[in-house]
Amino acid sequence: MDSIRIKGGNPLKGKIHISGAKNAALPLLTACLLTDEPLALGNVPNLADIVTMSRLLEQLGVDIGSDGIGPEGRVRTLKAGKLCGIVAPYDLVRKMRASILVLGPLLARAGEAKVSLPGGCAIGSRPVDLHIGALQKLGAEINLDNGYIHARAPQGLRGGDITFPTVTVTGTENAMMAATLAKGETKIINAAREPEVIDLAHCLVAMGASIEGIGSDRIVITGKDKLHAARHDVVPDRIEAGTFAMAAAITNGEVELIGAKLEHLNSVSIILAEAGIDMTETSQGLRVRRMNELNGTDVMTEPYPGFPTDLQAQMMALMCVANGASMITETIFENRFMHVPELRRMGANITVHNSSALVRGVPMLTGAEVMATDLRASVSLALAGLAARGETVLNRIYHLDRGYERLEEKLAACGADIERVAAAA
Ligand code: UD1
Repeated sequence: MDSIRIKGGNPLKGKIHISGAKNAALPLLTACLLTDEPLALGNVPNLADIVTMSRLLEQLGVDIGSDGIGPEGRVRTLKAGKLCGIVAPYDLVRKMRASILVLGPLLARAGEAKVSLPGGCAIGSRPVDLHIGALQKLGAEINLDNGYIHARAPQGLRGGDITFPTVTVTGTENAMMAATLAKGETKIINAAREPEVIDLAHCLVAMGASIEGIGSDRIVITGKDKLHAARHDVVPDRIEAGTFAMAAAITNGEVELIGAKLEHLNSVSIILAEAGIDMTETSQGLRVRRMNELNGTDVMTEPYPGFPTDLQAQMMALMCVANGASMITETIFENRFMHVPELRRMGANITVHNSSALVRGVPMLTGAEVMATDLRASVSLALAGLAARGETVLNRIYHLDRGYERLEEKLAACGADIERVAAAA
């Protein structure tokens, strides 16, 4: 298995192009199931999770056009002319939990879908009960058979009122996609407001859907008999942008994040400002640099527009070398502190009490051989490695490849001493 070798100490300096958002591209890809006409998506990132989703869609009968390069980057055309399957098998769902995103569109278009239950996951139990409950409100009959969610709506779905007790991103996306083809009106209350949900809503509207309240926590969808062809560009990845902002901060560098949008990173920029880091809009994106000493700052993860759980591990790496202490509280996922033991091996001083981690800053981290456990945990170790004295070797980097496009190339272009080391054959 490949690893990444980092020699810490170089400040990052330069421009980094921000890719299309993984978490927007995944639901956008599944939206192609809602119509027999082509859906062309621009700015699709080249990531392992996108390959997994494409494979799943191909198994369901989707033709995926070979990549072309348009003015906004990579374009993929997906055409679900005639579906030839309704099953998302365990093998793929286990690999990538976002496979659940085929459930709503498949059910709405084909009247039936069978999606494996995702099972355990490194960052907690992550159930799918809210997805199931939402589709039941739209008239689906759902049975759990042999580890699969078997959803049926032989007469088609009908509009209904869905109130989510907890904000769920992919749950909102599944419900929204299903409702676009349901008969009548659907209200989604306590809907997720993440930019990726908004991006999907805009694409669905371009496909002919009627959606009101986009960007609010109350979405109203009036179902249509059919959706049609559309062209849409994936929104830039705010989590990738936030990760590189923290990489610049931890190395005391200065980077310009090309394409990044400050409006999607407001809560992050407020927290980073408290820690002594400035994020300023430029004509092309965002400039990030350290203004003062790095200060310990408390952080609590929350649904958007709060501080994203997907930047919690990276923020913790940054706080490991800040002055004073920082309390980091994770409210979205249980067990999302898998990076703590590895950061400790690099010299960090962190104590975990239930869902909070108390980080006491140390003057310097030291390089070590560390193990990636999940996507965001692994990138936090890369950030720690960029700031550490000596060499860090990051193993199990397939987690990184799931969500970061050419991470080591982008960092090396800004002066980091980082390389991918191929596993010995
Ligand atoms: C999405 C993101 C993920 C991010 C997360 C939170 C994608 C592909 N993934 O994941 O990167 O970390 O949002 O911002 O967009 N829950 C239930 N029952 C359900 C569904 C969720 O109890 O049926 C709980 C979860 O366990 C969690 C909370 O709701 O505690 C929020 O999870 P959710 O927003 O659904 O996360 P995902 O959509 O899976």
